[in-house]
Amino acid sequence: MTEDTPQDDEAISGEELSGATDSCAHDNDTAANARPTSERPVDEVPEDEKPSKKAKKPRGKMKLKGIFAEKLSDELFEKMSAFIIKELGIKMPDRKKVMLEARLRKRLRALEMKTFEEYAEYVFSPGGLESEVVHLLDVVTTNKTDFFREPRHYDLLTGTVLPKLIKRKPKGEPLKIWSAACSSGEEPYTLSIVMSEFARVNDCPPFSILGTDVSTLVLYKALDAIYKERSISEVPEEIKKKYFLRSKDRAKPVVRLKKKVRDMVSFKRLNFMEPSYDIDTNFDIIFCRNVMIYFDRPTQEEVINRLCRHIRPEGYLFMGHSETLMGIRAPLKQVVSTVYSRMPAGSHTGEIITMRLRKPKSEKGATGATGSF
Ligand SMILES: C[S@@+](CC[C@H](N)C(=O)[O-])C[C@H]1O[C@@H](n2cnc3c(N)ncnc32)[C@H](O)[C@@H]1O
Repeated sequence: MTEDTPQDDEAISGEELSGATDSCAHDNDTAANARPTSERPVDEVPEDEKPSKKAKKPRGKMKLKGIFAEKLSDELFEKMSAFIIKELGIKMPDRKKVMLEARLRKRLRALEMKTFEEYAEYVFSPGGLESEVVHLLDVVTTNKTDFFREPRHYDLLTGTVLPKLIKRKPKGEPLKIWSAACSSGEEPYTLSIVMSEFARVNDCPPFSILGTDVSTLVLYKALDAIYKERSISEVPEEIKKKYFLRSKDRAKPVVRLKKKVRDMVSFKRLNFMEPSYDIDTNFDIIFCRNVMIYFDRPTQEEVINRLCRHIRPEGYLFMGHSETLMGIRAPLKQVVSTVYSRMPAGSHTGEIITMRLRKPKSEKGATGATGSF
């Protein structure tokens, strides 16, 4: 990847991202390929290293051998889930045991270990924890995200939220947005694009976007800002041309966000389980979408209240379309489904948020349904 070549300012039509694919360890495949083969999970081993598909199938019932026969004992599952909930807040009910077992097998293989006991001994050792915790995180979280995910929120942002915020803002004061649990960066970069488009036709103060996540693996991907071309297949052509660069190497179709989009976004590692967050306390808008679903109720309430300490009064909190804050005590009032505003200082009475948020039929179905306040 050549860093910020002059091509960065050209449009995507006919323009290319020079040498983009040689070092783009940005997605799961390429990041995995950057590691030695012995560290790669089994399903990431390149085709030419996989056993031939023509190999003879064994007759009769196949006996599982080695790590495939390895079972996660109930005791170890309990120990691991207690650790995961303490470190990450992520609930690990019994029904997730099979999933955890399967995913941890990949780590056993990558680390060339033979048993889950050996793995546990390593994870719970001081040195092991430091190097393994990021992988363990990846094992238990899903980093699924998209450009322009849940598009109704972006309509609401530009149609209603921004005009209101800007009207109240003292002249020249910057607008600050936090994409909390930003995964590999698609959300904060979408915000950067949406804000740029908004600023093109409106009187808009300077803005900045902070993206945070607990997983350093996804944050590195976000910093690279390189994505598979198909990840923007739904993005309007005009936006692609304006804000993305295409790789020169057509064998590896990837795109990269232009410098002007990347420059508006900074990234930082932040774990919601920390008692306080070392970031600004005056964000105008927080996007915290599709992460609360992993937490139990008490953890959700704690995290929401910590987030509230970082929203300025009458600033906004956007949650994922399927996330409910019903029954949660927080200084928030609902604006429209999944969008809240921070109650002004002193006016909060410890109210419980009582509305029920419906799970939408599909994310796409929500497009364009801009709510009004
Ligand atoms: C499904 S992704 C959501 C990405 C994006 N917000 C969206 O809606 O498209 C959930 C993200 O939450 C992050 N996460 C999970 N537990 C976390 C924690 N305790 N603190 C901070 N981030 C966490 C994961 O690493 C993952 O990237």
